[in-house]
Amino acid sequence: MKMKVTCIPGDGIGPEIVTEAKKVLKKVSMVFGHEIEFTDVLMGGCSIDAVGVPLTDETIEICRAADAVLMGSIGGNTSTSPWYKLDPSLRPEAGLLKLRKSLNLFANLRPAYLYPELKDACPLKEATGEKGFDMLIMRELTGGLYFGERNTKEVDGELVATDTLVYRESEIRRIAIRAFDVARKRRKSVISVDKANVLDSSRLWRKVVEEVAQDYPDVKLEHMLVDNCAMQLVKDPSQFDVVLTENMFGDILSDEASMITGSIGMLSSASLNDTSFGLYEPSHGSAPDIAGMNIANPIATILSAAMMLRYTFNLDKEADSIENAVKKVLEDGFRTVDIMPKGQEDRFTKTSCTEMGDLIAERITNC
Ligand code: IPM
Ligand code: MG
Repeated sequence: MKMKVTCIPGDGIGPEIVTEAKKVLKKVSMVFGHEIEFTDVLMGGCSIDAVGVPLTDETIEICRAADAVLMGSIGGNTSTSPWYKLDPSLRPEAGLLKLRKSLNLFANLRPAYLYPELKDACPLKEATGEKGFDMLIMRELTGGLYFGERNTKEVDGELVATDTLVYRESEIRRIAIRAFDVARKRRKSVISVDKANVLDSSRLWRKVVEEVAQDYPDVKLEHMLVDNCAMQLVKDPSQFDVVLTENMFGDILSDEASMITGSIGMLSSASLNDTSFGLYEPSHGSAPDIAGMNIANPIATILSAAMMLRYTFNLDKEADSIENAVKKVLEDGFRTVDIMPKGQEDRFTKTSCTEMGDLIAERITNC
Protein backbone atom coordinates (compact mmCIF):
# COMPACT_ATOMS: atom_id res chain seq x y z
CA MET A 1 0.00 0.00 0.00
CA LYS A 2 1.12 3.59 -0.65
CA MET A 3 0.60 5.85 2.33
CA LYS A 4 0.82 9.64 2.39
CA VAL A 5 1.39 10.96 5.88
CA THR A 6 1.81 14.60 6.89
CA CYS A 7 3.88 15.00 10.05
CA ILE A 8 3.59 17.84 12.54
CA PRO A 9 6.61 17.47 14.84
CA GLY A 10 5.62 20.69 16.68
CA ASP A 11 7.28 22.03 19.80
CA GLY A 12 9.13 20.81 22.90
CA ILE A 13 9.69 17.05 22.78
CA GLY A 14 7.46 16.82 19.66
CA PRO A 15 10.30 16.53 17.07
CA GLU A 16 12.08 13.85 19.13
CA ILE A 17 9.07 11.59 19.57
CA VAL A 18 7.87 11.98 15.97
CA THR A 19 11.32 10.96 14.72
CA GLU A 20 11.00 7.70 16.69
CA ALA A 21 7.47 7.03 15.43
CA LYS A 22 8.68 7.56 11.83
CA LYS A 23 11.56 5.15 12.50
CA VAL A 24 9.07 2.47 13.59
CA LEU A 25 6.72 3.16 10.66
CA LYS A 26 9.62 2.87 8.20
CA LYS A 27 10.48 -0.50 9.69
CA VAL A 28 6.83 -1.62 9.39
CA SER A 29 6.75 -0.54 5.72
CA MET A 30 9.93 -2.49 5.06
CA VAL A 31 8.79 -5.65 6.82
CA PHE A 32 5.29 -5.67 5.33
CA GLY A 33 6.15 -4.26 1.90
CA HIS A 34 4.42 -0.86 2.00
CA GLU A 35 5.50 2.55 0.80
CA ILE A 36 5.19 5.51 3.10
CA GLU A 37 5.80 9.12 2.15
CA PHE A 38 6.24 11.70 4.92
CA THR A 39 5.84 15.46 4.52
CA ASP A 40 6.75 17.64 7.51
CA VAL A 41 4.88 20.87 8.26
CA LEU A 42 5.08 23.50 11.00
CA MET A 43 2.35 24.06 13.55
CA GLY A 44 2.22 25.63 17.00
CA GLY A 45 5.03 27.70 18.50
CA CYS A 46 7.55 26.82 15.78
CA SER A 47 5.11 28.14 13.17
CA ILE A 48 4.60 31.35 15.19
CA ASP A 49 8.38 31.82 15.24
CA ALA A 50 8.68 31.13 11.50
CA VAL A 51 5.65 32.90 10.03
CA GLY A 52 3.85 34.69 12.89
CA VAL A 53 0.81 32.42 13.13
CA PRO A 54 0.39 28.93 14.70
CA LEU A 55 -1.27 27.42 11.63
CA THR A 56 -1.39 28.64 8.03
CA ASP A 57 -4.05 27.81 5.43
CA GLU A 58 -1.32 26.15 3.39
CA THR A 59 -0.53 23.79 6.29
CA ILE A 60 -4.22 22.89 6.63
CA GLU A 61 -4.29 22.05 2.90
CA ILE A 62 -1.14 19.89 3.14
CA CYS A 63 -2.78 17.99 6.01
CA ARG A 64 -6.04 17.63 4.09
CA ALA A 65 -4.22 16.31 1.02
CA ALA A 66 -2.63 13.47 3.00
CA ASP A 67 -4.25 10.19 4.08
CA ALA A 68 -3.41 10.91 7.70
CA VAL A 69 -1.55 13.31 9.97
CA LEU A 70 0.94 12.21 12.61
CA MET A 71 1.57 14.83 15.25
CA GLY A 72 4.00 15.21 18.15
CA SER A 73 2.95 17.99 20.47
CA ILE A 74 2.64 21.74 20.44
CA GLY A 75 2.98 24.60 22.91
CA GLY A 76 5.45 25.72 25.52
CA ASN A 77 5.64 26.82 29.12
CA THR A 78 2.52 28.96 29.61
CA SER A 79 4.17 31.10 32.32
CA THR A 80 7.50 31.82 30.63
CA SER A 81 7.19 31.39 26.86
CA PRO A 82 6.68 34.57 24.79
CA TRP A 83 4.04 32.68 22.75
CA TYR A 84 1.65 33.17 25.68
CA LYS A 85 1.99 36.97 25.55
CA LEU A 86 0.25 36.92 22.16
CA ASP A 87 -3.47 37.31 21.60
CA PRO A 88 -5.16 33.94 22.48
CA SER A 89 -6.12 33.48 18.81
CA LEU A 90 -2.40 33.48 17.88
CA ARG A 91 -1.10 31.08 20.54
CA PRO A 92 0.09 27.54 19.73
CA GLU A 93 -3.09 25.78 20.99
CA ALA A 94 -5.27 27.94 18.71
CA GLY A 95 -3.53 26.25 15.77
CA LEU A 96 -4.43 22.78 17.00
CA LEU A 97 -8.05 23.72 17.67
CA LYS A 98 -8.34 25.31 14.22
CA LEU A 99 -6.89 22.20 12.59
CA ARG A 100 -9.33 19.91 14.47
CA LYS A 101 -12.26 22.11 13.44
CA SER A 102 -11.13 22.62 9.81
CA LEU A 103 -10.78 18.87 9.29
CA ASN A 104 -14.00 18.13 11.22
CA LEU A 105 -12.17 15.75 13.57
CA PHE A 106 -15.07 15.32 15.96
CA ALA A 107 -14.24 11.88 17.39
CA ASN A 108 -11.25 11.64 19.69
CA LEU A 109 -10.35 8.11 20.77
CA ARG A 110 -8.05 7.85 23.77
CA PRO A 111 -7.32 4.32 24.94
CA ALA A 112 -6.06 3.92 28.50
CA TYR A 113 -4.63 0.49 29.17
CA LEU A 114 -2.47 -0.64 32.07
CA TYR A 115 0.30 -2.86 30.75
CA PRO A 116 0.86 -5.66 33.28
CA GLU A 117 4.59 -4.85 33.02
CA LEU A 118 3.89 -1.31 34.23
CA LYS A 119 1.66 -2.11 37.16
CA ASP A 120 4.41 -0.96 39.54
CA ALA A 121 4.30 2.46 37.92
CA CYS A 122 0.52 2.74 38.51
CA PRO A 123 0.05 5.19 41.40
CA LEU A 124 -3.10 3.42 42.65
CA LYS A 125 -3.41 0.71 45.32
CA GLU A 126 -1.52 -2.49 44.54
CA ALA A 127 -4.76 -4.50 44.27
CA THR A 128 -6.04 -2.06 41.64
CA GLY A 129 -2.88 -2.44 39.62
CA GLU A 130 -3.13 -6.23 39.88
CA LYS A 131 -6.69 -6.15 38.52
CA GLY A 132 -5.62 -3.99 35.58
CA PHE A 133 -7.86 -1.92 33.30
CA ASP A 134 -8.49 -1.33 29.63
CA MET A 135 -10.75 1.56 28.65
CA LEU A 136 -11.32 3.79 25.68
CA ILE A 137 -12.31 7.40 26.18
CA MET A 138 -14.44 8.66 23.30
CA ARG A 139 -14.14 12.42 23.59
CA GLU A 140 -16.21 14.83 21.48
CA LEU A 141 -13.60 17.13 19.95
CA THR A 142 -15.13 19.94 17.91
CA GLY A 143 -17.92 21.32 20.12
CA GLY A 144 -18.72 22.43 23.65
CA LEU A 145 -16.78 25.01 25.63
CA TYR A 146 -13.79 24.85 23.30
CA PHE A 147 -15.70 26.25 20.37
CA GLY A 148 -18.57 28.26 21.92
CA GLU A 149 -18.56 32.04 21.81
CA ARG A 150 -16.29 33.68 24.32
CA ASN A 151 -15.42 37.21 25.33
CA THR A 152 -14.07 39.35 28.12
CA LYS A 153 -15.61 42.78 28.63
CA GLU A 154 -16.03 45.42 31.24
CA VAL A 155 -19.40 45.47 32.96
CA ASP A 156 -20.17 47.89 35.79
CA GLY A 157 -16.49 48.75 36.22
CA GLU A 158 -15.13 45.20 36.38
CA LEU A 159 -14.02 42.62 33.84
CA VAL A 160 -16.44 39.81 33.06
CA ALA A 161 -15.33 36.76 31.08
CA THR A 162 -17.81 34.45 29.35
CA ASP A 163 -17.37 31.05 27.67
CA THR A 164 -20.37 29.24 26.25
CA LEU A 165 -21.01 25.50 26.21
CA VAL A 166 -23.15 24.66 23.20
CA TYR A 167 -24.12 21.22 21.86
CA ARG A 168 -26.45 20.45 18.97
CA GLU A 169 -28.35 17.16 18.88
CA SER A 170 -26.56 16.15 15.67
CA GLU A 171 -23.13 16.65 17.28
CA ILE A 172 -24.09 14.45 20.23
CA ARG A 173 -25.67 11.80 18.01
CA ARG A 174 -22.65 11.30 15.75
CA ILE A 175 -20.18 10.88 18.62
CA ALA A 176 -22.57 8.58 20.52
CA ILE A 177 -22.86 6.37 17.42
CA ARG A 178 -19.05 6.14 17.31
CA ALA A 179 -18.96 5.12 20.97
CA PHE A 180 -21.59 2.40 20.57
CA ASP A 181 -19.96 1.09 17.39
CA VAL A 182 -16.58 0.74 19.08
CA ALA A 183 -18.16 -0.76 22.23
CA ARG A 184 -19.56 -3.56 20.05
CA LYS A 185 -15.99 -4.50 19.15
CA ARG A 186 -14.91 -4.40 22.81
CA ARG A 187 -16.70 -5.44 26.02
CA LYS A 188 -20.10 -3.96 24.98
CA SER A 189 -20.42 -1.33 27.66
CA VAL A 190 -20.73 2.45 27.35
CA ILE A 191 -20.57 4.79 30.33
CA SER A 192 -21.72 8.23 29.22
CA VAL A 193 -20.32 10.99 31.40
CA ASP A 194 -22.11 14.30 31.90
CA LYS A 195 -23.20 16.85 34.50
CA ALA A 196 -26.94 16.44 33.93
CA ASN A 197 -27.75 17.50 37.49
CA VAL A 198 -26.65 21.04 36.58
CA LEU A 199 -26.16 21.67 32.85
CA ASP A 200 -28.76 21.88 30.08
CA SER A 201 -26.17 20.74 27.52
CA SER A 202 -25.70 17.59 29.63
CA ARG A 203 -29.43 16.94 29.86
CA LEU A 204 -29.63 17.08 26.06
CA TRP A 205 -26.51 14.87 25.90
CA ARG A 206 -28.20 12.22 28.06
CA LYS A 207 -31.45 12.32 26.03
CA VAL A 208 -29.68 11.89 22.68
CA VAL A 209 -27.35 9.17 23.99
CA GLU A 210 -30.41 7.25 25.22
CA GLU A 211 -32.02 7.56 21.78
CA VAL A 212 -28.87 6.21 20.10
CA ALA A 213 -28.69 3.35 22.62
CA GLN A 214 -32.06 2.06 21.33
CA ASP A 215 -30.26 0.91 18.19
CA TYR A 216 -27.69 -1.05 20.24
CA PRO A 217 -29.67 -3.41 22.51
CA ASP A 218 -26.55 -5.60 22.84
CA VAL A 219 -24.53 -2.74 24.40
CA LYS A 220 -25.08 -1.81 28.04
CA LEU A 221 -25.45 1.93 28.69
CA GLU A 222 -24.94 3.68 32.02
CA HIS A 223 -24.79 7.37 32.82
CA MET A 224 -22.30 8.80 35.28
CA LEU A 225 -21.84 12.34 36.57
CA VAL A 226 -18.42 13.74 35.76
CA ASP A 227 -17.41 14.38 39.38
CA ASN A 228 -18.29 10.81 40.29
CA CYS A 229 -16.41 9.57 37.21
CA ALA A 230 -13.25 11.41 38.32
CA MET A 231 -13.57 9.56 41.63
CA GLN A 232 -14.40 6.14 40.15
CA LEU A 233 -11.36 6.35 37.85
CA VAL A 234 -9.04 6.25 40.84
CA LYS A 235 -11.24 3.92 42.90
CA ASP A 236 -11.87 1.16 40.37
CA PRO A 237 -10.81 1.89 36.77
CA SER A 238 -11.56 -1.71 35.74
CA GLN A 239 -15.29 -0.88 35.63
CA PHE A 240 -14.82 1.24 32.47
CA ASP A 241 -14.92 -0.04 28.90
CA VAL A 242 -15.99 2.82 26.61
CA VAL A 243 -16.32 6.23 28.27
CA LEU A 244 -18.34 8.64 26.13
CA THR A 245 -18.08 12.30 26.99
CA GLU A 246 -18.05 15.90 25.80
CA ASN A 247 -14.97 17.92 24.92
CA MET A 248 -13.95 19.56 28.20
CA PHE A 249 -14.78 16.61 30.46
CA GLY A 250 -12.91 14.34 28.03
CA ASP A 251 -9.83 16.56 28.16
CA ILE A 252 -9.69 16.35 31.94
CA LEU A 253 -10.68 12.70 32.38
CA SER A 254 -8.25 11.50 29.72
CA ASP A 255 -5.34 13.11 31.57
CA GLU A 256 -6.51 11.42 34.76
CA ALA A 257 -6.85 8.08 32.96
CA SER A 258 -3.41 8.42 31.45
CA MET A 259 -1.77 9.11 34.80
CA ILE A 260 -3.11 5.87 36.29
CA THR A 261 -1.56 3.87 33.43
CA GLY A 262 1.78 4.73 35.02
CA SER A 263 2.76 7.63 32.79
CA ILE A 264 1.13 10.14 30.49
CA GLY A 265 3.91 9.10 28.08
CA MET A 266 2.06 5.86 27.24
CA LEU A 267 -1.25 7.20 25.89
CA SER A 268 -1.99 7.37 22.20
CA SER A 269 -4.94 9.04 20.49
CA ALA A 270 -6.79 9.23 17.21
CA SER A 271 -8.96 12.12 16.06
CA LEU A 272 -11.31 11.06 13.31
CA ASN A 273 -13.94 12.56 11.03
CA ASP A 274 -16.49 10.61 9.01
CA THR A 275 -13.96 9.46 6.39
CA SER A 276 -10.89 7.28 6.86
CA PHE A 277 -8.76 10.39 7.42
CA GLY A 278 -7.37 10.90 10.91
CA LEU A 279 -4.96 12.91 13.00
CA TYR A 280 -2.89 10.82 15.39
CA GLU A 281 -1.08 12.26 18.36
CA PRO A 282 -0.02 11.32 21.87
CA SER A 283 -2.42 12.54 24.57
CA HIS A 284 0.40 14.30 26.40
CA GLY A 285 1.82 17.78 25.94
CA SER A 286 5.13 19.14 24.70
CA ALA A 287 7.04 18.81 28.03
CA PRO A 288 9.27 21.86 27.33
CA ASP A 289 11.27 21.18 30.52
CA ILE A 290 12.80 18.01 29.03
CA ALA A 291 12.89 19.03 25.36
CA GLY A 292 16.12 18.20 23.54
CA MET A 293 17.42 15.97 26.36
CA ASN A 294 16.66 12.66 24.60
CA ILE A 295 14.80 11.34 27.65
CA ALA A 296 11.17 11.68 26.48
CA ASN A 297 9.05 8.56 26.18
CA PRO A 298 8.15 8.07 22.48
CA ILE A 299 5.75 5.16 23.15
CA ALA A 300 2.52 7.23 23.09
CA THR A 301 3.46 8.58 19.64
CA ILE A 302 4.53 5.15 18.41
CA LEU A 303 1.20 3.70 19.60
CA SER A 304 -0.58 6.60 17.86
CA ALA A 305 1.18 5.50 14.65
CA ALA A 306 -0.27 2.02 15.27
CA MET A 307 -3.74 3.55 15.59
CA MET A 308 -3.12 5.31 12.26
CA LEU A 309 -2.36 1.99 10.56
CA ARG A 310 -5.51 0.48 12.07
CA TYR A 311 -8.04 3.27 11.56
CA THR A 312 -6.90 5.10 8.43
CA PHE A 313 -5.23 2.29 6.49
CA ASN A 314 -7.11 -0.73 7.82
CA LEU A 315 -3.79 -2.50 8.37
CA ASP A 316 -4.59 -4.51 11.49
CA LYS A 317 -1.65 -6.91 11.27
CA GLU A 318 0.80 -4.05 10.92
CA ALA A 319 -0.81 -2.18 13.84
CA ASP A 320 -0.62 -5.35 15.94
CA SER A 321 3.07 -5.67 15.09
CA ILE A 322 3.75 -2.25 16.65
CA GLU A 323 1.64 -2.94 19.73
CA ASN A 324 3.34 -6.30 20.23
CA ALA A 325 6.78 -4.74 19.81
CA VAL A 326 5.94 -2.20 22.54
CA LYS A 327 4.77 -5.00 24.84
CA LYS A 328 7.93 -6.96 24.11
CA VAL A 329 10.20 -4.02 24.88
CA LEU A 330 8.48 -3.56 28.23
CA GLU A 331 8.70 -7.30 28.95
CA ASP A 332 12.39 -7.14 28.11
CA GLY A 333 12.81 -4.58 30.89
CA PHE A 334 13.51 -1.37 28.96
CA ARG A 335 12.19 1.80 30.59
CA THR A 336 12.38 5.51 29.82
CA VAL A 337 12.69 7.56 33.01
CA ASP A 338 8.96 8.33 33.31
CA ILE A 339 8.06 4.63 33.59
CA MET A 340 11.03 3.55 35.71
CA PRO A 341 9.65 2.36 39.06
CA LYS A 342 11.27 4.21 41.94
CA GLY A 343 13.67 2.12 43.97
CA GLN A 344 13.76 -0.71 41.41
CA GLU A 345 16.23 0.85 38.96
CA ASP A 346 18.53 -2.20 39.20
CA ARG A 347 15.82 -4.48 37.73
CA PHE A 348 15.40 -2.47 34.52
CA THR A 349 17.44 -0.90 31.72
CA LYS A 350 17.24 2.88 31.58
CA THR A 351 16.52 3.82 27.98
CA SER A 352 16.69 7.10 26.07
CA CYS A 353 14.10 8.30 23.58
CA THR A 354 16.16 7.27 20.53
CA GLU A 355 17.07 3.90 22.09
CA MET A 356 13.41 3.20 22.79
CA GLY A 357 12.58 3.88 19.11
CA ASP A 358 15.40 1.56 17.99
CA LEU A 359 14.36 -1.22 20.39
CA ILE A 360 10.73 -1.10 19.23
CA ALA A 361 11.71 -0.96 15.54
CA GLU A 362 13.99 -3.98 16.04
CA ARG A 363 11.06 -5.99 17.42
CA ILE A 364 8.71 -5.40 14.46
CA THR A 365 8.04 -8.75 12.78
CA ASN A 366 5.64 -10.10 10.25
CA CYS A 367 4.28 -12.94 12.39
C1 IPM B 1 -5.35 17.71 24.50
C2 IPM B 1 -4.72 19.03 24.84
C3 IPM B 1 -5.41 20.13 24.03
C4 IPM B 1 -6.88 20.13 24.43
C5 IPM B 1 -4.78 21.53 24.19
C6 IPM B 1 -3.31 21.52 23.79
C7 IPM B 1 -5.54 22.58 23.44
O1 IPM B 1 -4.78 19.27 26.21
O2 IPM B 1 -5.33 17.32 23.32
O3 IPM B 1 -5.88 17.07 25.43
O4 IPM B 1 -7.25 20.74 25.44
O5 IPM B 1 -7.68 19.51 23.72
MG1 MG C 1 -5.53 17.66 27.35
